[in-house]
Amino acid sequence: MARRRNKENSPRIPKVFPIAQFTIESLDMEGRGIARGEDGKVVFVAGALPFETVRAEIVREKSSFSQARTIEVLKASSDRVTPKCAAYDMCGGCAMQHMDSRGQVSAKQRVLEDNLQRIGQVKPDVMLRPIAGPTWGYRYRARLSVRNVFKKNAVLVGFREKNGGYVADMTACEVLPKHVSDLLVPLRELVGQSSLINDIPQIEVAVGQEHTVLVFRNMAALNSDDEVLFRAFGDTHGVDIWFQPKGPDTVYAFHPPTENLFYDLPEFGIRMPYRPTDFTQVNFHINRVLVGRAIRLLDVRPLERVADFFCGLGNFTLPLATIATHVVGIEGSTQLTTRALENAVVNGVADKTEFYCRNLFEVTADDLRGLGKLDKYLIDPPRDGADALCLALAQLTRAEKPTRLVYVSCNPSTLARDAKTLVHQAGYRLSSAGVVNMFPHTAHVESMAVFDLV
Ligand SMILES: C[S@@+](CC[C@H](N)C(=O)[O-])C[C@H]1O[C@@H](n2cnc3c(N)ncnc32)[C@H](O)[C@@H]1O
Repeated sequence: MARRRNKENSPRIPKVFPIAQFTIESLDMEGRGIARGEDGKVVFVAGALPFETVRAEIVREKSSFSQARTIEVLKASSDRVTPKCAAYDMCGGCAMQHMDSRGQVSAKQRVLEDNLQRIGQVKPDVMLRPIAGPTWGYRYRARLSVRNVFKKNAVLVGFREKNGGYVADMTACEVLPKHVSDLLVPLRELVGQSSLINDIPQIEVAVGQEHTVLVFRNMAALNSDDEVLFRAFGDTHGVDIWFQPKGPDTVYAFHPPTENLFYDLPEFGIRMPYRPTDFTQVNFHINRVLVGRAIRLLDVRPLERVADFFCGLGNFTLPLATIATHVVGIEGSTQLTTRALENAVVNGVADKTEFYCRNLFEVTADDLRGLGKLDKYLIDPPRDGADALCLALAQLTRAEKPTRLVYVSCNPSTLARDAKTLVHQAGYRLSSAGVVNMFPHTAHVESMAVFDLV
């Protein structure tokens, strides 16, 4: 078979970069130190922490900023620690392992406060205590890249390298659950032995409470030897094998041919079945705390009607339905609203819930009115935030508006933009906000904010 060329197989040409000394002022949204060059230009320094002095090589020059990479720490921060992962310097999966985990949480809180102030021109009345949990082995959902690299005479399975399209040459990962990390080397061998050696670009990992599923994206069909190999791999390692031959709709359970992933929200007596490619929160421990806190903050009363915007498979909707009189879940993916409805039935709350599939990036004030009077909103948008929803809300009369909103965010800059609309146009007060360390050692900032109608 003709071998496909890829980037990993092209020779790398060594480059020489200018080196300079920097004193770091703060951290940016990607966990890089922010410093100023002699000319006053902003320099983003990877691997440097606030208040450190480092020697760094400038790897990229732009007219308004430069990017640099730390090569020596001259004065170290008290938050600096030795990264646990052997592949940390090269792997792009994490950006903050060189910082103590409490320092990471404080840094994320500063990013949130700074965004709220700078973009949103708002300040919460109260900062909530950060939600934090286990910092290692927490990542229950991951997308691993796969490449057959001829130069290394090996199939690599792992995250992408920092700043690049190459697959990191890693044999273990500290943020994946141990039993998944232990599969990285056997997975190299599995793909290497199969006829699909050049035809599996990625593997999705989904770890449920009792089962782990690996979804192989296969660009060519399996032959009968492959079927035997993959079945044996699943049996030996106690994982379920799925394949995705084309688009997301083509995903199927291969061995065993059944669906069995679920997670529990014990505080609410909810069991949530899901498919390995459905959106679920990456960190189940933190998700339990997050759902509990969001629902307590929403302070739902038994006679209230609540909306759950961007409801996914019902992660907040179903627990809310155990308290409120009625919950309306709205979401852009029909696959997820269908699953949410099935999950409501399984959990005995179908009579208290309804689900709609809508593009919430185009929602209007009339659409909101069409949902009837709602007392509280839970909003959990993707990274783009909930711009249209907040603008639509601003157009409702005071009597039509919910009295309280809890906004769960995976992007502090869009949360800040939406907070500006809610506070400066829609008549809400930002009562509290806080960070959720959903992704320790990455620069990803998850947060939540509570808005009350003034
Ligand atoms: C951060 S997830 C939250 C899901 C759910 N609340 C949970 O906790 O599992 C964001 C959700 O927004 C949905 N979404 C993305 N774009 C959307 C859009 N334009 N309109 C409606 N929903 C959208 C995604 O399908 C996803 O389920």
